[in-house]
Amino acid sequence: MFSITTIFSQTYRILIGSGAALLLSSVMMTSANAADIATTYNNSCAACHDSGALNAIKKGDSAKWQQLMKQKSMPALINSVKSGMTQMPAGGLCSSCSDEDYRKLIEYMSK
Ligand code: HEC
Repeated sequence: MFSITTIFSQTYRILIGSGAALLLSSVMMTSANAADIATTYNNSCAACHDSGALNAIKKGDSAKWQQLMKQKSMPALINSVKSGMTQMPAGGLCSSCSDEDYRKLIEYMSK
């Protein structure tokens, strides 16, 4: 059971242990696995890329995705998502995604 003292001392530790907090957040970032990517996809990108709404390239249309990756390269595609396109809002509705997350999401959609 959590007592108030436990919660206080944990908060205190988080506040003063910025080094530990940094370490913790980097562990959390690198531990993103396939399931997290699927969840992020469903929460952010699926709205358009599942159905092809607004002419978004559909998830699973690997021919189109492969062609786009060849034409533009992965870094350019990541930048497109970050800065947005004509029909795609900047960030693709994911406010917490890192470049690495976008790369994984694009690879996930291309399969
Ligand atoms: C509101 C709809 C919408 C959402 C949400 C959305 N997209 Fe898109 N996306 C589009 C559309 C439409 C295009 C086609 C280009 C255009 O017309 O803007 C596109 C194009 C792209 C491209 C190709 C970029 C290029 O340079 O050609 C990538 C990569 C991409 N989306 C990734 C994502 C990722 C990753 C997410 C989720 C984090 C996402 N999109 C969320 C609508 C969306």
